[in-house]
Amino acid sequence: MPIVYSFADGDALSGGLNSFVEKVSRDAIANHGYLSVAISGGSLPKILSKDLKTNKNVEFDKWHVFWADERCVPHDHEDSNYLEVRKSLLDHIPQLQQANIHPIHEAFATAKDTEKAAADYEQQLKSFFKTNEWPAFDLILLGMGPDGHCCSLFPGHPLLDEKTRWVAPINDSPKPPPERITLTFPVLNHARLVVFVTAGDGKKDMVQQIIEQPEKNLPCQRVKPSEGHVYWFIDDAAASKLRKESCSEYK
Ligand code: 6PG
Repeated sequence: MPIVYSFADGDALSGGLNSFVEKVSRDAIANHGYLSVAISGGSLPKILSKDLKTNKNVEFDKWHVFWADERCVPHDHEDSNYLEVRKSLLDHIPQLQQANIHPIHEAFATAKDTEKAAADYEQQLKSFFKTNEWPAFDLILLGMGPDGHCCSLFPGHPLLDEKTRWVAPINDSPKPPPERITLTFPVLNHARLVVFVTAGDGKKDMVQQIIEQPEKNLPCQRVKPSEGHVYWFIDDAAASKLRKESCSEYK
């Protein structure tokens, strides 16, 4: 069962997430000298960065930043998850080394060549993790779509059954823009830690289904790392349909 932490509002949610990520970073760096993190787009980057961007206790120079999914657009396009994370977090952290920031290949993205963009990103991951086994991200930060999707893994899509690719192309994303690349479930499910971050009254019904109706088999429910843990960081509005016992107290 995922561990669900609910916070009074967006500020409290950002604060709780900041202290949690600080601890995850400290532990990963103590364990193997760096933190590998994959970040989603949507509302997550703003929630994540509000407090984290000024956190002086995090050794950001040891961070390696990837994307959990990305739209096939130029890096300066308003739809770019890279741009969103750059603006909300990376540009505020001078210690982050450019070589440790791993965006989608811009030429392939701009050309909307999703196959080449996905193959190139998979190669980037393989070069970093130096393994042909599945990569073990220290932390993957996921949003939750109103239909229960995460990354660019949408309900009923054939990509949900991808078993060999680390990164897959998609050309028919129901959430625009249609051309994207996404991490696949085997990668998500080999992560050491997956944290979902979602907020707002509009998410309460889907949060209740995902947390309390496991039989739905929604994409977010298929994130079950074999050796890792899943946490949900949400606000009280998104938690408002959950039973009290579904939430834990964040300490
Ligand atoms: C994307 C995101 C996507 C997002 C969810 C939730 O590229 O669109 O990675 O998976 O996380 O759609 O988005 P919101 O939090 O903005 O609802």
